[in-house]
Amino acid sequence: MENNNKISVVVVAAGSGRRYGGNLPKQFLPLDNKIILCRTIDAFREALPGANILLVLSSNDLDFWEKLCSDNNYISPQIVVGGDTRGASVRNALSNIDSNQTEYILIHDGARPLVNKELILRVVDRLRKGAKAVVPVLDLTDSIMEKFGTALLPRNRSDYKLVQTPQGFNSFIIKFAYANFIGNLTATDDATMAAKIPNLDVIGVEGDKHNIKITHPGDIKLAEFYLECSH
Ligand code: C5P
Repeated sequence: MENNNKISVVVVAAGSGRRYGGNLPKQFLPLDNKIILCRTIDAFREALPGANILLVLSSNDLDFWEKLCSDNNYISPQIVVGGDTRGASVRNALSNIDSNQTEYILIHDGARPLVNKELILRVVDRLRKGAKAVVPVLDLTDSIMEKFGTALLPRNRSDYKLVQTPQGFNSFIIKFAYANFIGNLTATDDATMAAKIPNLDVIGVEGDKHNIKITHPGDIKLAEFYLECSH
């Protein structure tokens, strides 16, 4: 069995879930009787026993999470307080990771609770084979156009991929990217930060169409349906 002691997993869950609506951020809602965030964390605990997991939460949600854990007898991973953007949240987590103790860092959206062991291991396997930055990708099925002001220009969809998480990195690479391209924390994923390093190849592995990010009302129903399909 592989040793996972040198893997750190950052689960970002400090968003307010504004697009989802409601009083409670979406990551704390139940999905088939289990809190979304607990599902996400447990997927990594199962796939990578022994890995170091960091959970990034908003300072507004710390008390709520603590109570939720004690009510449900759930053991929380180490907590890091997030920032105003996803990028700022990741940066805070990375500053708690020592590259000398950690070979690989996986970064995952807390709002993707259907991530499965096979996908996690596909990413880790490519890192173990020497890739420095790995992203799960899917082909587009719809057509795609680029916006130029008010006009739309057709693009060839086979030139593009949809990008999911978990994204995996050599720890020096991703810490370097976040330390040096700090002015640009608006990126919506981490490979976009890593790709700022000249000559760095970002490698794609097959994503999973069930690995949706709970974003809009209705996504939980869809996730419940996908869970049913996987039983
Ligand atoms: O907003 P979006 O759905 O793209 O966020 C993706 C992930 O990043 C979510 O799991 C969210 O909780 C997290 N996030 C964060 N800190 C922020 C904004 C988003 O950890 N400031």
